[in-house]
Amino acid sequence: MKIISSEKEKSFENSKDSSDLVNLSRYLIKAQEEERKKIARELHDEIGQILTAIKINLELLKRKIGKDFEGQIEENINLINRAIEEVRDISLNLRPSLIDDLGLLSAIKWLVDKVKEKNNLNIELSLKLEQKGIPKDFSITIFRIIQEGLTNVVRHAEATEVSLKVIQEDDEIEIFIKDNGKGFDIKQVFKDISKGRFLGLLGIKERVELLNGRIEIKSEIQKGTEIKINIPLERNI
Ligand SMILES: Nc1ncnc2c1ncn2[C@@H]1O[C@H](COP(=O)(O)OP(=O)(O)O)[C@@H](O)[C@H]1O
Ligand SMILES: [Mg+2]
Repeated sequence: MKIISSEKEKSFENSKDSSDLVNLSRYLIKAQEEERKKIARELHDEIGQILTAIKINLELLKRKIGKDFEGQIEENINLINRAIEEVRDISLNLRPSLIDDLGLLSAIKWLVDKVKEKNNLNIELSLKLEQKGIPKDFSITIFRIIQEGLTNVVRHAEATEVSLKVIQEDDEIEIFIKDNGKGFDIKQVFKDISKGRFLGLLGIKERVELLNGRIEIKSEIQKGTEIKINIPLERNI
């Protein structure tokens, strides 16, 4: 079964209503990214700082208190280290500042490594990106699509193998996510989506359409799911 989204709403294409909706969508996505950025910064700066301060205090205490409680303090330091790491991961997921610092390529590698490590999932990654020609908002969209796609595999698919391809060719980027999991009934899920039950796939679809891209989802029960997205790189909006 297959859904090609961009063909569905052709009748709207030239109407004013449609451009209002597109602007609203764009505004909402921008607002959501801004909000995520704010939360990420606060998490990192506020909570991260406090955790680091507690860790330093515990280390000082460990030195003063001697052997008797050393083990217990060490245990707490390890917990704090885990919390620091979690806060770091959560803020990086909320705001992929890696995109700003190191570029989209590194951000994708970081994400894939994290998902692999946390979920014991085999992800075969094929990346062919030049980065230079990719505008910032495209980078964020590409990152969010991969993030949602992989989260869905982890949450729903019960898969053991994932193939992720991000290929830049001429003036187009193709993102391909395929898993060997349990698959799902696309018709049913899209019916539920239209009733507002799920937001993940809808979010992907909206982001892709805002960049004049195309999304194709195929899924077969007990076989797996494939998502293919093509985004043209030149701005023709
Ligand atoms: N890779 C996948 N494998 C199996 N089922 C999936 C996969 N991706 C999505 N689904 C199904 O589609 C539904 C909608 O996904 P989504 O819109 O991302 O919402 P959510 O992840 O919040 O449930 C999921 O609840 C799940 O049933
Ligand atoms: Mg989801």
